[in-house]
Amino acid sequence: MRTLIAGAECVLPSGKQSVNVLIDSTSGKILDLDPATTAAVDQRVDASGLHLLPGVVDDQVHFRDPGLTHKEDLHTGSLACAKGGVTTFFEMPNTNPNTITKEELHKKLDLAASKCVVNYGFYIGATPDNVPELQSVNRTPGIKIFIGSSTGNLLVDEQAALEKIFAETSLPICAHCEDETTVRANAARLDGGKSYADHSLIRDHEAALIATKRSVDLAVRHNHRFHVLHVSTAHEAEFLQEHHNLITAEACPHHLFFNIDDYERLGSLVQMNPSIKTDCDNRALWDALRSNVIQVIATDHAPHTLEEKDQPYPKSPSGVPAVENSLALMLDAVHRGECTLEQVVHWMCDAPARVWDAVGKGRIEVGYDADLVLVDLERTHTIRNAEQVTKSRWSPWDGVALTGQPLKTWVGGNLVYDDGRLDTEHRGAEVQFDHDRGGYWATTD
Ligand code: DOR
Repeated sequence: MRTLIAGAECVLPSGKQSVNVLIDSTSGKILDLDPATTAAVDQRVDASGLHLLPGVVDDQVHFRDPGLTHKEDLHTGSLACAKGGVTTFFEMPNTNPNTITKEELHKKLDLAASKCVVNYGFYIGATPDNVPELQSVNRTPGIKIFIGSSTGNLLVDEQAALEKIFAETSLPICAHCEDETTVRANAARLDGGKSYADHSLIRDHEAALIATKRSVDLAVRHNHRFHVLHVSTAHEAEFLQEHHNLITAEACPHHLFFNIDDYERLGSLVQMNPSIKTDCDNRALWDALRSNVIQVIATDHAPHTLEEKDQPYPKSPSGVPAVENSLALMLDAVHRGECTLEQVVHWMCDAPARVWDAVGKGRIEVGYDADLVLVDLERTHTIRNAEQVTKSRWSPWDGVALTGQPLKTWVGGNLVYDDGRLDTEHRGAEVQFDHDRGGYWATTD
């Protein structure tokens, strides 16, 4: 089916332009930019007054499938994506079983093919001794290392094991950077922690900086492409200024919008790893995004049930769901003058596609995939737990009023979300990665 999206202001690689966009659900591609409004099509969408963006590429989510599907699964997680304007996600290996072998990676891809409404890719997790597995895979954005433990049991902390992974693998690597020794010493000093706010004293600034420095040092010495996940501190942002061309970095909405003052109101709902820090850190992360020291915004969508979250610290698990609200939160930031719409498209669409060499993603351009989101920058709405599509059914932003909302989402030219209605039947596609492209710094703006 051919659809003409007519009259929208489109965010193209060259900037905002009012063009018609012709897409096709058979090839899944963008066929033409600015064809005559009289072009022969099956369907015409009047998008005047609205903005058309490339679909969001969220390079860090936890969809809990297989093994932890009472929290989320690949179907519900992908529906939450469709609602939020996220057309592609890359999912983390801390499922049960962990995705640490080629066999488990391929099983997950098969599961996704049967369950996912949007497009998908899966990282392979590193362990102290699975380098042969890391060398054997190519259907993946890259390797994930937990240099610092989080939810699950994946951890690679020994220097020799880390050296081997960086030396003997060629896929791009990303890491969760919190120093395990520092975290354990802080926890011991605080007797394990007594309140949710203690989480930020245990997983402190120092822990984040030490691990980020350690990983960047490995990447630079081994000349290995490396992506720092969820940067949470001003100190890391300052350190990352020096390391442009091998290193990319990511910030998450929760580290931009929440800080330690929010524990009193939200308790464990803002407990995540890395922990939230101070309002100075919030501001430094915004500055780092604006100056391209951090290139990517991703959610680290990490659902747990409210019952699990309700447990006292430190039993309460870390992580927040965000995939269905991340774009709306950033559109609201545009409304408030924090950033421009073009910057949001760079951080959430183009940059993550380039970091991971995702073919055909992240841009409105002829021949690119017809993964698109139509947004209304004026529409106001309030995030409500009851309206969340994620299986965990809550958001730390419950009750927050935003201006700017995704209205329609297309995946491969198919309308999967239409202002409140989800197409639960559509199935997205496995993302292709062309790692010879060389990542973010090797590709042009
Ligand atoms: O808070 C977090 N939760 N951070 C992570 O890195 C993992 C995640 C999870 O899987 O729950």
